[in-house]
Amino acid sequence: MTKTLVLDELLHGGDYNPDQWLDHPEILQKDLSLMTKAGVNTVSLGIFAWSALEPSEGVYQFDWLDQIFDHFEARGGHVILATPSGAKPAWLAQKYPEVLRVDGYDHRLHFGERHNHCPTSPVYRRFVADIDNRLAERYGQRKGLLLWHISNEFGGECHCDLCQAAFRQWLQDKYGSLEALNAAWYTSFWNHRFSDWQEVASPSPLGDSTLNGLNADWRQFVSDQTIDFYDQEVAAIRAGGSQAPATTNFMSDTADLMPFHGLDYAKFAKHVDVVSWDSYPEWANPNIPTPELGMKIAMINDYFRSLKHQNFLIMESSPSLVNWHSVNRAKRPGQHRLAAMQQLSTGADSVLYFQWRQSRGASEKFHGAVVAQDGSEDNRVFKEVVQVGQDLQRLHDLAGVQRPRAHVAIVYDWQSQWNLDGAQAYAQETKRYWQTLQKHYRYFWQHDIPVDIITPDTELAPYQVVIDLMHYSLPAGYVTKLTEFVQAGGLLVGSYISGLSDYQDLAFLGEMPLGQLYGIQRKEIDTYYPQNHNGIEYLGHTYPVKDYAEVIAPTTATVLGKYTEDFYADTAALTENRVGSGRAYYLAGRANAAFIEALYNRILEGLRLAQQQVTVPTEVVSVALRPMKDGQQLAFVMNFSDSEQGVDLLKGGTDLLSGDVVSKGHHTLPKYGVLALRIE
Ligand code: GAL
Repeated sequence: MTKTLVLDELLHGGDYNPDQWLDHPEILQKDLSLMTKAGVNTVSLGIFAWSALEPSEGVYQFDWLDQIFDHFEARGGHVILATPSGAKPAWLAQKYPEVLRVDGYDHRLHFGERHNHCPTSPVYRRFVADIDNRLAERYGQRKGLLLWHISNEFGGECHCDLCQAAFRQWLQDKYGSLEALNAAWYTSFWNHRFSDWQEVASPSPLGDSTLNGLNADWRQFVSDQTIDFYDQEVAAIRAGGSQAPATTNFMSDTADLMPFHGLDYAKFAKHVDVVSWDSYPEWANPNIPTPELGMKIAMINDYFRSLKHQNFLIMESSPSLVNWHSVNRAKRPGQHRLAAMQQLSTGADSVLYFQWRQSRGASEKFHGAVVAQDGSEDNRVFKEVVQVGQDLQRLHDLAGVQRPRAHVAIVYDWQSQWNLDGAQAYAQETKRYWQTLQKHYRYFWQHDIPVDIITPDTELAPYQVVIDLMHYSLPAGYVTKLTEFVQAGGLLVGSYISGLSDYQDLAFLGEMPLGQLYGIQRKEIDTYYPQNHNGIEYLGHTYPVKDYAEVIAPTTATVLGKYTEDFYADTAALTENRVGSGRAYYLAGRANAAFIEALYNRILEGLRLAQQQVTVPTEVVSVALRPMKDGQQLAFVMNFSDSEQGVDLLKGGTDLLSGDVVSKGHHTLPKYGVLALRIE
């Protein structure tokens, strides 16, 4: 049963690793006074501390953790307590090699690194349950315990015999018979018919890596097995008597800030009590304009909020630089505060860091932290963290108050993403599903219109607009759901490379299933080389088309835009179909930002999608609203440009960050400047 995270303040702090400093009591002492100065109210403890808690099998030492708990509780602070399964102890790996992961080449990994256990191994599960259970028995009732942090950044897969057996069982549960599996995987192709369950194995470069149905099921199995491992950890905690809520920290990639590819987070989110994620964007990368970065961060935060339609936590971030980007540049002055305020504006209830104090040794010792190895508070980063700590105290009335649903939803489908990535079609370099969604999201970000990023199983009734682009594989029943949404008055936008296969990646036969809804038939899909292009003529302008162009034939749809070149010049490139009291638009080619702007300006006309308008929207100053405890709106007005910007405020209010009363009219925001305007 879901537990609720109850917050009376915004969380500030993060990963604290006192187990690295047990032989430096003076440093531990200093940490506490520095944390008070930085306004730290939360620490995440014990994430990789298994050997510090159980130095050898069955030998436990909890005194150091007891003391840290004591110190924190004495200050009225919160503890996010981790289970240590993200890095197994060397003694465990040595004695029970089955806990070590096996890769796709059938190599059992050695002990080392982290995040590399076998998720199926009964031995690993038993040891993990034991240590989790002991932690829960010992700390489960402590008043400082706020939340469980299960393991760390789950990811990866194991191909050992135990996992193979579990996979076969999973397939038997799903298909019931080999006939059904053979049909779903289309094994008549390349003589792949299976006649015994034992013949089925995980995808591997040594065996099958392009059998689409196998790949689709393997991805789901890996997700299910990881979630099951998580659930068993939670069960061990509950058996230890703790009822505190639980989470695990999700991830994104760095370059495009798209959700981590390996796990179905939509499914995983149903199992966690609160969504949390680790945010490491490339601030200050001259190749990514800051407003573009701001847009990408906003989108992935919207995504994580929408997983449960609830506020989420930033579990990790860096106040300055990281150590694993290709270039590890420091955030410029003011960027940390801007990043923190943006997190809050999108529905985060925390600003937490990795890590509090830089380690002395090992691979992450030069990763940015709140306190550097010199232990000084007299530096820019520490001062900016102090500032953010004060900001969070001033904004404490936001804590736990939910951001309402948006009126616009963009659909992101995990299975479809996996299937599209694996499809040997189109052009690997240019598929870019998430990035295509981002290009459309940018319009809404620039116009300060809130957006939810939803999965196909989300109820559509709360939305006025649903954007469903490049939806390659469709789940059962989805076309009916979309059709009902449009019939009831919804506005739908779809695009090229949609509705080609089902979740097993079996191509649909006959007419395209989305054809009736969009009022078109697909005739061909043309994939372009980088030097190929076309144009869409729309509302008197011609916009360039790159990468993809579908040749379509309207049935009931009206043509709004036409291709300008090639053998399909003058045929439909953008269509509108009226269905019931709604409208469904189909964009057949990949067009640029100017086209997207023109498209939405026209088709959204008359819909009242904006949140309360606080400024005249600009492309670089973003505004997001969040309600406070008394129901009053707090408007974050954030300058993402690298220079000062004028803003025209349509409303006045009090800036809770400075305490100043701000009148409506023209103002200047310094670069990276933020107002947190309590609207009067
Ligand atoms: C996270 C991880 C942390 C630390 C951090 C460095 O992905 O959870 O343990 O490694 O990255 O940025």
